[in-house]
Amino acid sequence: MSTQATPRDILVTSALPYANGSIHLGHLVEYIQTDIWVRFQRQRENRCTWVWADDAHGTPIMLKAQELGLTPEALIAQVKEEHETDFRDFLLSFDNFYTTHSDENRHFAELIYTRLRDAGHIDKRTIKQLYDAEQNMFLPDRYVKGGCPTCEAEDQYGDNCEVCSATYDATELRNPRSVVSGSTPELRDSEQYFVKLSNFEPMLRSWMDSGKLQPEIRNKLEEWFEDGLQDWDISRNAPYWGFEIPDAPGKYFYVWLDAPIGYMASHKNLCERTGDDFDSYWREDSEAELYHFIGKDIAYFHTLFWPAILHGAGFRTPSAVFCHGFLTVDGAKMSKSRGTFIKARTYLEHMDPEYLRYYFAAKLNHKVEDIDLNLEDFVTRVNADLVGKVVNIASRCAGFITKSFDGKLSEALPDAALYQDFVDEGVAIAEAYEARKFSQAMRLIMALADRANHYIAEAEPWVLVKDPDTRPQVHGICTQGLNLFRVLVNYLKPVLPQLAEKSEAFLQCGDMRWDSTQEPLLSHDIQRFSAMLKRIETATVEKMTEASKQDLAATQTPAPTGALADDPLKPEITYADFDKIDLRIAKIVDAEHVEGADKLLRLTLDIGKQRQVFAGIKSAYSPDDLRGRLTVMVANLAPRKMRFGMSEGMVLAAGPGGKDLFVLTPDSGAEPGMRVK
Ligand code: MSP
Ligand code: ZN
Repeated sequence: MSTQATPRDILVTSALPYANGSIHLGHLVEYIQTDIWVRFQRQRENRCTWVWADDAHGTPIMLKAQELGLTPEALIAQVKEEHETDFRDFLLSFDNFYTTHSDENRHFAELIYTRLRDAGHIDKRTIKQLYDAEQNMFLPDRYVKGGCPTCEAEDQYGDNCEVCSATYDATELRNPRSVVSGSTPELRDSEQYFVKLSNFEPMLRSWMDSGKLQPEIRNKLEEWFEDGLQDWDISRNAPYWGFEIPDAPGKYFYVWLDAPIGYMASHKNLCERTGDDFDSYWREDSEAELYHFIGKDIAYFHTLFWPAILHGAGFRTPSAVFCHGFLTVDGAKMSKSRGTFIKARTYLEHMDPEYLRYYFAAKLNHKVEDIDLNLEDFVTRVNADLVGKVVNIASRCAGFITKSFDGKLSEALPDAALYQDFVDEGVAIAEAYEARKFSQAMRLIMALADRANHYIAEAEPWVLVKDPDTRPQVHGICTQGLNLFRVLVNYLKPVLPQLAEKSEAFLQCGDMRWDSTQEPLLSHDIQRFSAMLKRIETATVEKMTEASKQDLAATQTPAPTGALADDPLKPEITYADFDKIDLRIAKIVDAEHVEGADKLLRLTLDIGKQRQVFAGIKSAYSPDDLRGRLTVMVANLAPRKMRFGMSEGMVLAAGPGGKDLFVLTPDSGAEPGMRVK
């Protein structure tokens, strides 16, 4: 009996990891999620293909290669091999892992671009960009550093701030400087290419309402629409590591244009090997299903740009985009110093991949929620469920069959109804897998495992075997136990392919398909049982986190540069801490020397009322420089009695001291008393 009639044609992708760093457990949330779903589909006898690649273009990769003294080609080849090995060792069953730096990808990037252009979806526009006049080049985002426009942290790249995560345009940096020459860049006109996203508004609205998106993502899209669809700059000036735009020498496709096209390129590359029909998956009226697994941070690219450019270039749009949340470890963002930023390889050096696969399965669902890897719970859960509940059934029953019944299962089950319950539950479990409610699937399976253990505990085969009169019953009981075990392993197979393989060998039952366990194994020879899965020791987990701390010391840690190098950051504060500080614009109504003080000036500040503040800025400013200027002050600092009088606040200044001390002065338009946010 088959539960499904016609096999479906399904094409699945995962987000392409950047080719400049190692895979870590955060990436693996997605890749394990994809793998479980793909394996489930195949076990259901659907035709399910999984393709992805390394994301090999962009400035960070160019910079990383330079730093290592490699060509970008050499770097991406090396990283691809490392990634692929990690993935295989995590038992990921992808059909093709390719690279975006490929002929196929160049072909599709050019094809999509020219089709968009010919259909009038590309706009050429001149914008202002930072230019290094010493090096005669436009500066890509990562070639400019300066102060974050949001939090003012120094030494941030031109695209986003590593301190506060703000994203911004390089032209917004405070005191920008070129990473290449150290000079201050100037603004120059530069011609860039834009995809006119607004052309796709009706199409995107119906895509949004098609039910193909999770509600959380749909709401996000709604917000993006409200903010207005921005045209999308898909070009970058040389030097850039990527594909040159066909009709625009010196301009390159921005990495995020050719990255998702990498899904197509990887599939094309696979089809060329297997003879599969690429077009039947990608043409506008394709009936094949296409799903993208992604993290919440890249939803914008996949739910707006990607369907728009596919549609604009005459290809089909995705059947759905499956978005997941972020991984935290022990309740916090993965941290290098705590040893919870764990690389895939470090994990594999200490533990079996199936532990993590099971733990993630037990946590994952169809929502965009973050998931937490609690290391203590990880040990308890894996030991209790997999070793204590599942494998335990086989280890309790197998010995009797081998020793007392010649390694052969009995002719009938003593409790056929119980077996049928296990089979019937397969419907709900399959529904849960299909809907990516893996945690629910695991709960249903473990509830069955509890019932199987309960059955054996009640039947007490180890007591019955001692009495020749009751001994024959043991045959049926252990046959029942092993058949229940087989059903459980079948349901766990998408998550635990290795355990399934060992069980298939032990039970000599062949490759299990979802429907293989409809009928029990009876009068059937089995192999001798040998241990399938070891318990995790807490000490092993500790070794892994220790090793992760060492990883950190050995590799990366980009040394802080600029001011941060000799003046490290103070311990982190919370937003609530920050919010206690009342910053106000103050007008310096008067400034004067203080008798007997060699560093201090006495300032009279106006923030709507007057305050007296002593500031140690005499080395850099004379009173005349300051009178009439605006500055920023901490207005709610407790007054301090100083040798020369009361100081009722603090003025903000920057710099090492001496002559290099700069009182912070707000842009014009500010007024005394204004709150600084
Ligand atoms: N290269 C882009 C994706 C291009 S897809 C056309 C990228 N790469 S990435 O390496 O930063 O991330 C790859 C995937 O891993 C993304 O879906 C991202 O959301 C996911 N994750 C990376 N870190 C993660 C966690 N800490 N937790 C969960 N998923 C995370 O983005
Ligand atoms: Zn910042």
